[in-house]
Amino acid sequence: MNSTGPWRGAGPASAAAGNDALIDSGIAMLERATSMDKQGQLEEAFTLYERGIDLLLQGARQEPGDQRRQTLINEARVHMSRAEHIKLALGPPQSPSPTRPASAGWRDSGRGKAALLRPKPTAADVRGSLRGGSIDAGSPDGENHASRSSGGGKSSAYTRGGARRGVGRIGAASGRGTPSTFTRGGAGRGRSGIGAGSAAAGTGGGGARGGGRREKSDKSELENKILEDMLDSSPGVTWDSIAGLEYAKQTLQETVILPNLRPDLFTGLRAPARGVLLYGPPGTGKTMLAKAVATESGYTFFNISASSLTSKYVGEGEKMVRALFAVARERVPAVIFIDEIDSVLSARGEGEHEASRRLKTEFLVQLDGAGQGGDDRLLVLAATNLPQELDEAALRRLSRRVYVPLPDPPARKALISGLLGQQKGNIKGAALASLVDMTEGYSGSDLKQLCKEAAMQPIRDLGTRVRTVAAKDVRGINLDDFRAALPKVLPSVSRKTVERYEEWNRSLSG
Ligand SMILES: Nc1ncnc2c1ncn2[C@@H]1O[C@H](COP(=O)(O)OP(=O)(O)OP(=O)(O)O)[C@@H](O)[C@H]1O
Ligand SMILES: [Mg+2]
Repeated sequence: MNSTGPWRGAGPASAAAGNDALIDSGIAMLERATSMDKQGQLEEAFTLYERGIDLLLQGARQEPGDQRRQTLINEARVHMSRAEHIKLALGPPQSPSPTRPASAGWRDSGRGKAALLRPKPTAADVRGSLRGGSIDAGSPDGENHASRSSGGGKSSAYTRGGARRGVGRIGAASGRGTPSTFTRGGAGRGRSGIGAGSAAAGTGGGGARGGGRREKSDKSELENKILEDMLDSSPGVTWDSIAGLEYAKQTLQETVILPNLRPDLFTGLRAPARGVLLYGPPGTGKTMLAKAVATESGYTFFNISASSLTSKYVGEGEKMVRALFAVARERVPAVIFIDEIDSVLSARGEGEHEASRRLKTEFLVQLDGAGQGGDDRLLVLAATNLPQELDEAALRRLSRRVYVPLPDPPARKALISGLLGQQKGNIKGAALASLVDMTEGYSGSDLKQLCKEAAMQPIRDLGTRVRTVAAKDVRGINLDDFRAALPKVLPSVSRKTVERYEEWNRSLSG
């Protein structure tokens, strides 16, 4: 980050001067924060982040240009997110200690800058906030900016729910002794999410239900770890950002979204499956689909890569799985998304390590338990590109299986058009149709690589002129660029592999 950053747009010079100074100090502060952060000096980093964010948001508040203001807010959000993580890493607030300045962040009395770190807004929240003409630039009382909102439809997380009730504010959270209070997702969406759950409990420490049943300290330690590592509050992927895959989207709607909207319709034979497996070749949008479920459903969303259970939480995987499901049950409706599930639930049983056998068993026990006990609002969504390797027992529990195939021609067309987006070029009509033909067998992520490669061609053609040419004079991308790129970016999934998926697919229905 430096003074040539994207927020340096053109603004009216006179008004901009003072504001730029403010923003410059904010940026300098955030640079120092980042550097402290890198050195592991988290407390100092947090304080600097907090001040830097404050300055940046003050600058945003005075910024007349919509675009620039948004860039500033976005920039602040990135740092807020990091500051939130640091806060979790530092653990629950303690009684004033010499190493922790009492004024730092959430240890405030709930006023002032601490209010900046309210729940992380989702992309939609930020859009809403900007549309409404309000910038949530950290007004101290959480009310102020709401009254500055000039309409714009629904209020955003910035302007409602948790923050106004004081839930989402770290300052307020600290008073209740639970660091999870400020967490994002749930509170931002006004659901029974984490922030809201803790607030409802009012006594802290427990979420909406089950609090106090277990040892509080054990619980909060694990809970924090889970919330920090696995709670995914704003994946920002919508159904519309996924090209094709209509069948998969519809299945997920029927399994996740509609049953929650109309529980009366989805009973008996229509009772939704509690375990869904997304399978298919790599790079076809499985993870994107799971993220879209999170965005579109508004459920509390936990996202865990199964391989991290064996790599990151060595020896602790089993405990983490148990705790994850417990934390999720307290925050229903919730989705637990387990990516790369094959790495834990593969059938390769022989000679497996005792720890991985225990981890596998724990998973199966928890999968069995999901949706039981009268709570059918906990859904497990799993993804794999090696479905053939999955254990029978695991498959039984993931009873709804959705094949996520390579994109068909209409999906490739949508993908390519989407990727080329605003880029200059003439890939339309017949050119687009032939490109769609040429890219049979390419996955979504292959297409992305291909478009990137093709987009570089006009730049390469410039030779040394690249240093001086005006952006508007760079030529557009054409079909020849793609012809040149195709041999460099080959499809990553072979025909044979696709056949194996299709065979497995048939074996399920057969
Ligand atoms: N249907 C799609 N629509 C839009 N983008 C897509 C689609 N499929 C893939 N992509 C692009 O490819 C990237 C990878 O997609 P994603 O991570 O969802 O694949 P995946 O199926 O989970 O792969 P893997 O099995 O390797 O985990 C995305 O970030 C996106 O850019
Ligand atoms: Mg994936």
